[in-house]
Amino acid sequence: MNYLAPSILAADFSCLGEQVKCLDRAGAQYVHIDVMDGNFVPSISFGMPVIQTLRPCTGRVFDVHLMIEEPSRYLKEFVKCGADMITVHAESCRHLDRTIDEIRQLGIRASVALNPGTDLSVLEYVLPKLDMVLVMTVNPGFGGQKFIGYTKDKIRKLRRIMEERGIKADIEVDGGITLENVGSVLEAGANVIVAGSAVFKGDIEENVKSFLEVMG
Ligand code: DX5
Ligand code: ZN
Repeated sequence: MNYLAPSILAADFSCLGEQVKCLDRAGAQYVHIDVMDGNFVPSISFGMPVIQTLRPCTGRVFDVHLMIEEPSRYLKEFVKCGADMITVHAESCRHLDRTIDEIRQLGIRASVALNPGTDLSVLEYVLPKLDMVLVMTVNPGFGGQKFIGYTKDKIRKLRRIMEERGIKADIEVDGGITLENVGSVLEAGANVIVAGSAVFKGDIEENVKSFLEVMG
């Protein structure tokens, strides 16, 4: 099954609640929430109070992408404010295995993100514990960047490894995804699609519906 996860980083923050409701109405299954600390990535976005405020606006899955150093310090708080799944970066966790266990112990879904330049081998031992792997298709930190072409091979390779090992986790892609290239990442093996600019530029409901149509 394929899922659309619009990234609210590209939303109009002056009416964020309304925009999240609009995503829900249009049928987007997830809400992708990008948390940035100005340390792991250059920019700072938003944190727990914003997520908590949005929680009553929708029952959709809150897919929280933590671009922060040592996320284990804040896992409990993110769950408390409404996260249904948490993605941590392999590059930002000193103890990746322990951090994954901590997320699972909190009763939500656990996922690990890899920057474009990070090899899939870092997942070798932890893969069976994961509900999802996020393959970054841009370098994290900003919306509106251009899709990095070589990440398609990485998605394909990861899906092959999962199939060979009988692992049924989801593969999410994030960064530079458009209506034009979404078909090719799906074909490579991704099934959770993050889209920021491509959803929020123009008519949100129409954009969501077009993505859902292409994604089948
Ligand atoms: C990048 C973020 C993405 C970003 C996607 O660091 O993780 O979720 O907002 O935005 P677009 O789709 O505009 O590349
Ligand atoms: Zn993201």
